[in-house]
Amino acid sequence: MDLRAVRGDITQADVDVIVNAANPGLLGGGGVDGAIHRAAGPALLAECRAIVAQLPDRRLPRGQAVATTGGRLPARWVVHTAGPIWSASRDHSAVLRSCYSESLRVADGLGARSVAFPAISAGVYGWPVEDAARQAVAGVRGSSVEHVQEVRFVLFSDESLAAFDAALIG
Ligand code: APR
Repeated sequence: MDLRAVRGDITQADVDVIVNAANPGLLGGGGVDGAIHRAAGPALLAECRAIVAQLPDRRLPRGQAVATTGGRLPARWVVHTAGPIWSASRDHSAVLRSCYSESLRVADGLGARSVAFPAISAGVYGWPVEDAARQAVAGVRGSSVEHVQEVRFVLFSDESLAAFDAALIG
């Protein structure tokens, strides 16, 4: 698997799968979640509603991932995952790594060859971006896949791009 970090808007990524940093309710929000839903159109929310209605407690557990189509996005599918909220007292690193490994597992199961990730939990959820990048790279590198050949971290700021570049070298 080829891993790279690029600066950009993930809704424009020309990949098979775009990963969404959603919340357990899966019904949209701000940040990248809002951008993806706006770009994909209302079909995405309708699919998310149908999925969440089938989930126990109508919630996607943090660290797990589910797929929908891409709606009007260039990507064929969107894989939605719910990241952990940063805590200085409790270590949720394994949950954050699971967002990446589970999203890759779901994407690979669809036969995707290219996957774009945002910096999950590094925005509203408050995760320090340097560590978010390290967990992201560890989560991807720790995964075994059959079809996925390219993983692209699509970063929305120079600071997060620098953090991911550093994590990829490390
Ligand atoms: N493309 C790529 N990255 C983006 C984009 C975009 N269009 N928009 C925002 N980002 C970046 C943010 O700058 C941040 O680095 O995505 C990263 C993740 O930030 P959030 O979107 O806030 O996601 P997260 O921290 O995981 O919080 C998720 O926020 O939007 C709500 O519904 C969402 O409740 C959930 C929570």
